[in-house]
Amino acid sequence: MDALKAIRHRRSVRSYTDRPVPDDDLDQILRLALLAPTGSNAQAWSLIVVRDADKRRQLADLIVRGAGKYFAIMRPPADGATPDEHAAWAADYAEQVLGTYRQVPVWVVGLIVPRHLFPDGHEDDERLSDVQSLGFAMENLFVAARAKGLGTVPTVFHWFERDAFRQLFDLPADVDSPVLTPVGYPTEFPKGLPPRLADIRRPWRTLVHDESWGNPRQEA
Ligand SMILES: Cc1cc2nc3c(=O)[nH]c(=O)nc-3n(C[C@H](O)[C@H](O)[C@H](O)COP(=O)(O)O)c2cc1C
Repeated sequence: MDALKAIRHRRSVRSYTDRPVPDDDLDQILRLALLAPTGSNAQAWSLIVVRDADKRRQLADLIVRGAGKYFAIMRPPADGATPDEHAAWAADYAEQVLGTYRQVPVWVVGLIVPRHLFPDGHEDDERLSDVQSLGFAMENLFVAARAKGLGTVPTVFHWFERDAFRQLFDLPADVDSPVLTPVGYPTEFPKGLPPRLADIRRPWRTLVHDESWGNPRQEA
């Protein structure tokens, strides 16, 4: 599959089979990820590949737990539900939608590894550069994976289980993980967005401005 097609057909995949991912394919998508542009040529990133079964189980457990916390925050409670009932609903929902994460054969954890290249007072600028660079690398990975028939999804649910996550990978204090992803063969590739999400997508021309702010992109 060529790059244009892979970009067009990449979708967030949340339902996986346990089919193994060949090491060669994995190495190829990891190397393509790290060909992304990197601010100041700093390569202030690392990727952790998680293949070990016990570690994958622990990671999937904490991701599903984190997702439960995310849904409890982001979704409105049912009428009359107590906070405990809402939290129980959210945990159950996370289990329903992400249950196959427990059989994903590989996870890739994206890391920011600060190189401290910017002068004092510019730490926020450096952080922004590093986070963007990792984002570009992860997008390369998502697209390369799609070209090989592999599913991925940018995932931040570990933010809600931060301590357990940091412990699992023994992360140094200044190393952080803004995003990670499962890598595996989907039960099937989503053809498009679910209607609930497709309905709220903005037409692309309204997101592109000709020459200055407020002029939606005109047809040629
Ligand atoms: C910064 C960022 C964080 C995201 N975090 C999550 C996440 O934690 N879990 C998840 O299932 N999807 C996550 N997504 C995926 C989005 O929900 C998804 O990209 C969006 O709904 C559009 O769907 P698509 O990726 O299939 O085009 C994230 C996407 C981005 C860019």
